[in-house]
Amino acid sequence: MLRIENLSVSYDGKEMAVDDISLDIKKGEFVGIIGSSGSGKSSLLKTINLLVIPTKGHIYIEEKEITKLKKSELRFLRRKIGFVFQDYNLIERSSVLNNVLIGRLGYKSSLKSFLGIFTQSEYSKAVKALEQVGLEEKIFDRAYQLSGGQKQRVAIAKTLCQEPKLILADEPVSSLDINISQNIMEYFKKINEKKNITILINLHDVNLAKKYCDRIVALKKGKVVFDGSAGELSETKLKEIYV
Ligand SMILES: Nc1ncnc2c1ncn2[C@@H]1O[C@H](COP(=O)(O)OP(=O)(O)OP(=O)(O)O)[C@@H](O)[C@H]1O
Ligand SMILES: [Mg+2]
Repeated sequence: MLRIENLSVSYDGKEMAVDDISLDIKKGEFVGIIGSSGSGKSSLLKTINLLVIPTKGHIYIEEKEITKLKKSELRFLRRKIGFVFQDYNLIERSSVLNNVLIGRLGYKSSLKSFLGIFTQSEYSKAVKALEQVGLEEKIFDRAYQLSGGQKQRVAIAKTLCQEPKLILADEPVSSLDINISQNIMEYFKKINEKKNITILINLHDVNLAKKYCDRIVALKKGKVVFDGSAGELSETKLKEIYV
């Protein structure tokens, strides 16, 4: 569903943040991207959503080359890609429900978005998404009243409400303690398995990647230095990745 060919990103025209990466991701895969700080994980993920424009190479989502899309096609594509951030990216003073409804904005005209007009079916989708992350009781709370783990679950519900085919998550558990991190990873896993949504997730905790991801891709200085299953990721290989 996602094909990356010889992708490079350079912010300054000299150093390569992403250096000639090629990857083929199948529908329904749950891929963990690991690597030390500065190895290019965020740059790679952001390029897939065109938050960062590639310097070289090609990205195809369901066989469509995303850099060649017209504006309207790009809008259509973007609503099919959910992005989950480390810092949750919620509107703190808004209710949990309103935060989740934001996931629907990509589907609406700008006037309806501006006026915050949502249909009954969109409200139902939002409630259902909140049920899926076990937060139906918090629906009318304000985002700032929630714990970090709960906020990240709202962010996941927002993404689910968007009905994406692909979820990109950039270190979604890095601000959370280990138990809560595992809880969040369980939700990602459940979404991946039950809805067959493809997930690419940047993680700095290798153990989480090994426990939850079907496939692990390791980056070092912008290059892929490992691509395989958790079982294939030996201690020696790990040392190589993080040295
Ligand atoms: N907006 C930017 N402008 C300039 N350089 C950038 C920008 N974003 C990233 N870089 C550089 O690109 C390289 C890769 O950074 P990136 O953020 O992709 O790494 P990362 O693996 O996500 O790191 P971390 O684990 O710290 O989040 C680094 O050398 C970084 O300094
Ligand atoms: Mg990063």
